[in-house]
Amino acid sequence: MSKNIVGLARQSPRIEIGTPFDTSSLEGKTILITGGASGFGAGFAKRWAESGATIIIGDIDSTQGKALVDELRKETSNASHQFLYCDVTIWQSQVDFFRKAVELSPNGRLDQVVANAGIEEAGTKLNEPQNLDQEEPPEPQFKTVDVNLKGVLYTTHLALFWLPRNPSTSPDFKPDRHLLLIGSVASLIPFAGHIQYSIAKHGVLGIFRSLRATAFQHGVRVNLLLPYFMDTPMIHPVGRAFLAGIGMGKHEDVVEAATRFAADTSIRGRALAVGPRVKLDDNGNLLPPDAQQAKEISSFEVYAHDFEEVEAFTLRYVKILNAVEAGRGYIGWAGDIVKAICSPFVSWFKS
Ligand SMILES: NC(=O)c1ccc[n+]([C@@H]2O[C@H](COP(=O)([O-])OP(=O)(O)OC[C@H]3O[C@@H](n4cnc5c(N)ncnc54)[C@H](O)[C@@H]3O)[C@@H](O)[C@H]2O)c1
Repeated sequence: MSKNIVGLARQSPRIEIGTPFDTSSLEGKTILITGGASGFGAGFAKRWAESGATIIIGDIDSTQGKALVDELRKETSNASHQFLYCDVTIWQSQVDFFRKAVELSPNGRLDQVVANAGIEEAGTKLNEPQNLDQEEPPEPQFKTVDVNLKGVLYTTHLALFWLPRNPSTSPDFKPDRHLLLIGSVASLIPFAGHIQYSIAKHGVLGIFRSLRATAFQHGVRVNLLLPYFMDTPMIHPVGRAFLAGIGMGKHEDVVEAATRFAADTSIRGRALAVGPRVKLDDNGNLLPPDAQQAKEISSFEVYAHDFEEVEAFTLRYVKILNAVEAGRGYIGWAGDIVKAICSPFVSWFKS
């Protein structure tokens, strides 16, 4: 029995990294970005607003968020871009943010959600035990986990509530319902001295790997971006000192990879790690930086083959979801037929 669920989970084929893509699909879309006042989120906002999307930013940094939205409105002559205060660690704050965003959205819906808000390690450092001369350690503060994992879980939960409400307005119109998760290379590798950050980002990877097997059920596509160290305000001076000579990735490469996910609505269930640019030969072997006429890339697919051979539980689970989906389609069609037959009577009754 085949244990390949690529088709059943609607995972799209390998991304042809380096091939051009068209951003015209972003025109008229409403995109919600948590933590969009700074860094990557601000980069996504600018690029996607230029392509005709309306951007709704939720962040705790009201000063920078409002200034960015003013700039977007001016640059794109679109007064619909919005900043809303939102603390992703507080459930009601995110609930209010999503509800208000839908009210303010020019098309009355959310087309895409980016779970981007994040902080660097803050709160208790698990690798630095405290109060060793006392009877008990102090109560730990898991602020990084609160923002980078609990906040993302809240955003994911709300995205899965609002995106499926984005309706098919005609038989040929397939709405885009996209959730883009922002992980990190710390989702993939140990991050010494940053245990909370690693836990949180491994958790984001867990959300992605599990959710992409079932999100098709609600017509939602889920993708994941995993940046390496990049020069954004999140990297403190000490971090920069540690990274001296190692090389950071480029902010614009992260924005480019995220834009591919946002604009190419056929991409589903894929993850791209983005790091410093490297040169490769045609077989994917690393070349020296001064190699002439070599392909230079910064994005690499990760966790691409999970669905090619799954264990029996996942196979059975996803098959059942497909059966439910098929049944729902039949019932939906039958419902439409009944509505069509009844509509003259309903109109007569209403008049
Ligand atoms: N910069 C990097 O090297 C790097 C690498 C890998 C992953 N990332 C991830 O990229 C995402 C964006 O980070 P960035 O580098 O652009 O950092 P940044 O500091 O420039 O931006 C993060 C934004 O999140 C906001 N934020 C923080 N706490 C919040 C809260 N409780 N509620 C709402 N908003 C909050 C901040 O105000 C800020 O605007 C994060 O998830 C981060 O973990 C960054």
